[in-house]
Amino acid sequence: MRIKMLLGGVVLAAFSLNVAASSLSVQPQDSALKVLGHEEVSFKHDIQPILHDYCVSCHQPGGKGHVKSGLDLTSYEALMKGTKYGPVVIPGNSEVSTFTKLLTGTNKGLKMPMGLNSTGTLDRQYILLLRKWVAQGARNN
Ligand code: HEC
Repeated sequence: MRIKMLLGGVVLAAFSLNVAASSLSVQPQDSALKVLGHEEVSFKHDIQPILHDYCVSCHQPGGKGHVKSGLDLTSYEALMKGTKYGPVVIPGNSEVSTFTKLLTGTNKGLKMPMGLNSTGTLDRQYILLLRKWVAQGARNN
């Protein structure tokens, strides 16, 4: 009787782990498809969450990226305003936009996000999404 209940518990646990794993895997697969396909990248659904997780800690009023450069990444309007020296996003051109150039470290040795980890580079999938969003016109979509 005890063993049966125990077994039941194990089966249930395995089942719910499975469900959790498959619902978790939906999002990355979705964005991977967006990176490869012709689908439109959304500021709200794809870009803002990346900025929130990797940039906003420094690029919000009072954060060290904001204090040094004036760049606030907490909203679309603030991102498009750029630094105190001017825009960092040139809609349609991810090659010249500092916003996307800095992710691979091609601007005067500066690389973002600053001090991320040992490689200092954002996930390739995220970089591609950010570039694609700029290339598609950097819209508030
Ligand atoms: C640990 C803090 C930190 C994080 C995290 C961070 N930044 Fe920065 N960022 C800075 C600082 C500090 C500067 C100012 C650098 C300077 O001017 O020397 C800066 C400057 C910038 C600039 C302006 C560079 C210029 O040409 O003046 C851009 C664009 C930028 N960051 C984008 C990003 C993006 C995109 C992310 C997230 C993927 C990010 N940053 C994450 C600290 C950070």
